Parts: sequence; structure tokens; C-alpha cells
Amino acid sequence: MKQFLSAADVPDINALIAKARAHKAKPFGSNHSGQQKMVINLFFNSSLRTRMSTEKAARQLGYDVITYDASGGWGIEFEDGTVMNGNTAEHVREAAGVLSQYCDILCVRSFPSLTDKDADYEDRIMKAFVKYASVPVVSMESATRHPLQSLTDCITIAEHRKAVPPRVVLTWAPHPRRLPQCVANSFAEWMLAWGEVDLTICNPEGFDLAPEFTKGAKVVHNQAEAFAGADFIYAKNWSSFEDYGAIGDFPGWQVDEAKMALTNNAYFMHCLPVRRNVVVSDGVIDSDRSLVLQQANNRTWAAQAVLGEMRG
Ligand code: CP
Repeated sequence: MKQFLSAADVPDINALIAKARAHKAKPFGSNHSGQQKMVINLFFNSSLRTRMSTEKAARQLGYDVITYDASGGWGIEFEDGTVMNGNTAEHVREAAGVLSQYCDILCVRSFPSLTDKDADYEDRIMKAFVKYASVPVVSMESATRHPLQSLTDCITIAEHRKAVPPRVVLTWAPHPRRLPQCVANSFAEWMLAWGEVDLTICNPEGFDLAPEFTKGAKVVHNQAEAFAGADFIYAKNWSSFEDYGAIGDFPGWQVDEAKMALTNNAYFMHCLPVRRNVVVSDGVIDSDRSLVLQQANNRTWAAQAVLGEMRG
């Protein structure tokens, strides 16, 4: 792969899942593609799992790793033709060009503004790095997608499914802050591209995801209807796409034991970090059907599979 930004960059999702599971079985196995090479992880936003798992994955392939917290660095300009007499000190043309001389793979995390829908949904920041970098770019979450998380979620479902296709429900859940749609967009995109699950998305009215991500999925606005007979419940909050960035005030959408009782003894999934007793009750996340730690573990193997496939 020359880039990893979305499911469209992956020729065969099942083959990539198989590679991740092989790395999980043998972390320091036959793929030493990173020897005498460098990965740079560039973070414009916070991270625990993505940062640690991507570093670990790179090192297990033999890469050296530099992680750069860009929020503490020079302000980067993304618009062309700007008179840069404001807060930005360096243009992405130079930043991406310079970083490309220091590494063999450039991994970037940049969240959306949630105020400028057009810029966010054009994925301007990630696309600028792809355009001006001369090395392969891996998304560690962009304005619209979180592909490393979604590959992880495919791996986790593949490991735990009994029925094929399993009934998978992506449910909106409450949150006090305005969050991106990335994880939910990406989850829907990957589940549909993978084609091995029966996907239902459930969210309050006004919180439908962008149609480009959900075409082919069943969308309902009633949690009880969605949860009935489900094999996997994937909870996530997202702010409104329609009323862009608006927060939903629906505390009754928390995933709790009563709702899980409607399912086919479903597994509970969440990408983390998660706000307990807001998004999900303690009883559900602490139950033996919760897969949240297994998902976090699989982040390493997903990243290792992706980094192992990158070719400049
Ligand atoms: N799931 C996830 O991306 O976690 P971090 O934000 O901690 O990296």
C-alpha cells in the first residue's frame, strides 16, 4: 500500500486481518521490513492507544520511531497563497517535505474542526500531507475517518463472531462534549466494505451520519428495535453531521444492562476512551461480554499489519 487513509486503500480486508492475526501470534515474526528505517508519528491531537500501539507495532517490525506532538510545535498553514503574518509559522508544503526527509513512513493524526463542515469533509489536512509528503502517509485518525481503529474492529469481530454474518449494531450514545463523527463513519465504511456483517446503525433523529459512509446499512432511530437479536453492540458518540457539530442531549441512549438483555447475548465494543455511566453503564463495560480491552490490544496488530504493508 502507498497510503492508508480509508478502506478504499486496502485491496483485501480479509488478507489484512489475517496478517494482523499472524503478527498477534508471533509479534517479532518474519516481517522485519522496518530495519534501518524510521517512522514519524505526528499528532495534532491527544492519544493514548493510537500513540502507544503504533509505536509498539513499528518497533516490532524493526523501525525506529519519532513521535512529535505538533500541538506544541510551529503552527502549520494549510491554505495556499496566504500572507502568513498571523499565527502560522510554517506551510504544510515545507513541513511535509522536511518530515519526509527524516522518515520512511509518516503517520498523522488530525481531528476535525467541527465548525467548518466543508473543510473537514474534504479532509484537507490529511490530504495536504499526502500531497506534499514524498513518503507513504498513514492516517492515525483524520477529520472524517479512523481506519486503524476500524481495521482493529474488523479483527476483533472476526475473532469473536459465531454466526456469519453476525448482526452488528453501531449505536449512538450520550456524551457531554462535541465529538467527531470519524470513528462511526469509519466503522460503517469498513463494515460495509468488508461485507461479512449485517450492519444496523441506530441514532437519534438528527444524528444520521453522512450518507457516503452508510449507504447499504440499515439506519433506525430506536435502540430497542436495533438491539433485538444483535450479536455485537458497538457504542460511540458523535456530534451531528446534519446540524454540524451540535451535541445531542439524549441521556436515555446510554447502553445499559436492560438494553443488552434485548440482544443475542451480544458482545459490547467501544474504541475507548469511554465515559463510564454516560456512554455505558459499569455493569455492561465490566461484564464478561465486554471486548474493550481486546479491541485496545488489537490496535497493535492492526498497526503492525498496516505498517508492514506500506511501500514507498
Ligand atoms: N481509540 C483511540 O484512538 O484511542 P486514542 O484516542 O487514545 O488513541
